[in-house]
Amino acid sequence: MRLSQRASAIKPSSTLEITTLAKKMRAEGIDVIGFGAGEPDFDTPSNVKEAAIRAIQEGFTKYTPVPGIDELRAAIAKKLEKDNNLVYRPSEVIVSCGAKHVLFNAIMALFEEGDEVIVASPYWETFLEQIQLMGATPVIVQTDESTDFQVTRELLETAITKKTKGLILNTPCNPTGAVINREHLKAIADLAVEKNIYVISDETYEKLVYEDAEHVSIASLNPEIKELTLTVGALSKSYSMTGWRIGYAAGPAEVIKAMVNLQSQSTSNPTSIAQKAALEALTGPQEALSEMRLEFLKRRNYIVQELNTIPGVSCLKPKGAFYVFPKVSGLYGRTYQGRIISNSKDLASYLLTEARVAVVPGSAFGSDQHIRLSYALSMEHIWEGLHRMKEAIGKLL
Ligand SMILES: Cc1ncc(COP(=O)(O)O)c(C=O)c1O
Repeated sequence: MRLSQRASAIKPSSTLEITTLAKKMRAEGIDVIGFGAGEPDFDTPSNVKEAAIRAIQEGFTKYTPVPGIDELRAAIAKKLEKDNNLVYRPSEVIVSCGAKHVLFNAIMALFEEGDEVIVASPYWETFLEQIQLMGATPVIVQTDESTDFQVTRELLETAITKKTKGLILNTPCNPTGAVINREHLKAIADLAVEKNIYVISDETYEKLVYEDAEHVSIASLNPEIKELTLTVGALSKSYSMTGWRIGYAAGPAEVIKAMVNLQSQSTSNPTSIAQKAALEALTGPQEALSEMRLEFLKRRNYIVQELNTIPGVSCLKPKGAFYVFPKVSGLYGRTYQGRIISNSKDLASYLLTEARVAVVPGSAFGSDQHIRLSYALSMEHIWEGLHRMKEAIGKLL
């Protein structure tokens, strides 16, 4: 079979790959602690599930309008006004099958061969793959611990060329958990307006920010940047609805229209039942969300504290999302039974076989000096997983 060049070039998702591997080992009876998962371990709130059951029982099981039902688009517009200080008409909102699908539509609608799109590293690898899939070129700028993984105007300026058409921001960030602060976002917005660069702002983890951190939507900063920005969100992480596949974008009518046209020729509407569930999630009680955030906060504090007790490992305390991104390059060069740990993949593979702990190598996110651990697993599992990691790392010579 001769596949298209496009299909041959695409890499499978590393996070899904590691989760699948851990699941397979578990099915074989090996008890693996999985720090790989990119989804909350909490159940979808019961009011949301009940709304979906009602939708089925009431026969709400047919095609809907391609960009989503009017009530849901209106509820998203209302949410954006209330939470994000952004005013959009429902017609400037599209609902798609998860944020990933929204991004796919957006990147396809905006970028093509000859365009450069800036992405800050460490990044969520899907950005790169989708940009490349459209024939455009991702241009990477590197952030690190010295600036708390913050993206800055100065950094972005170094990457701008005549071909720069877009910038993808991700706040809170997967994998670092960094939340870009207002001051930096203002400077980035000014730069984007000056240079006429489109911004795709992936705010999938917006509800998961801790302590004094503030989530700011760049499009809310002034009318000029709003004209250039597509704000992307999802119900996946905030409402523990990863399997329901509901994400959305709001932005300039012209871009939304192009995305709707693309969606009309690919998936059509997102699932009718999931749309009803999403409507309930956004308009119903919000207590489950606060409980989940509180639990994540406890886990984050614990995991960061414990990781920092391991010699050769250092970990910043992230302000958002549910990931930690410890630097582990201090372990490189060490050996176990003659095998040398030279990079993040070696370490992840060592931890999987020796400690039965699944983590994602940082190389999947553009930094080979790190690994990513999700703390979307119970405290007991976090405790056990860290204990195993410490023991296995202690065996390295
Ligand atoms: C930064 C980021 N954006 C988008 C997504 C995808 O979200 P969804 O499940 O809604 O497609 C993820 C999932 O891991 C993510 O980390």
